[in-house]
Amino acid sequence: MQLFLDTTDTAVLAELAKTGLVDGVTTNPTLIAKSGRPMLEVIAEICGLVEGPVSAEVAAMDAPTMLEEGRKLAAVATNVVVKVPLTKEGLIATAEFAREGIQTNVTLCFSAAQALLAAKAGATYISPFLGRLDDHGADGMGLIQEIRTIYDNYDFDTEILAASIRTAQHVTQAALLGADCATIPPATFDALFKHPLTDKGLEQFMADWAKTGQSIL
Ligand code: E4P
Repeated sequence: MQLFLDTTDTAVLAELAKTGLVDGVTTNPTLIAKSGRPMLEVIAEICGLVEGPVSAEVAAMDAPTMLEEGRKLAAVATNVVVKVPLTKEGLIATAEFAREGIQTNVTLCFSAAQALLAAKAGATYISPFLGRLDDHGADGMGLIQEIRTIYDNYDFDTEILAASIRTAQHVTQAALLGADCATIPPATFDALFKHPLTDKGLEQFMADWAKTGQSIL
């Protein structure tokens, strides 16, 4: 499973990228607004920090303008993936991007029917929003399962990118269901490293090691 960081905070990204565990990055207009920086500048900086896919979202609502914006975003770096909303216009743009060899991440997916259409349009990634579905009283994980089944039934190449992740458990459940990738906010990414028994065990090992009076170096 590929793990992406859902952020525009380049300091946080640079720190986590040192682990070698960040396979890519996703952004959205809300995260760009949060950064307070020009979008093209932030995307270029992120692309310099990670080799993997970096999603940058179009802001237009009509396909012709989405195409113009997407081509401009894709020209920033070879690892830019153009993020497109799951609307009729968005899927018209997705199909054209596919013909032009530009990778896409179709975002704001909340149903299996939408995911089927995105795959037929040639999306590189589909982003089902787990957390927002759960907040809405629906079953985010159930959606991942449905999309996995549909994509496997018809051998679609579109990768399932679990998005709107809220907890470490969201990541592991999505992995168990066969999501290809997950995009994770920094605090949740940090939580993936942790378990209270790891801390407790390490504390004990260090205390016992100190008693030996030894040094390995
Ligand atoms: C990523 O591509 C999405 O924009 C992001 O995961 C949305 O997360 P949120 O629902 O926490 O805003």
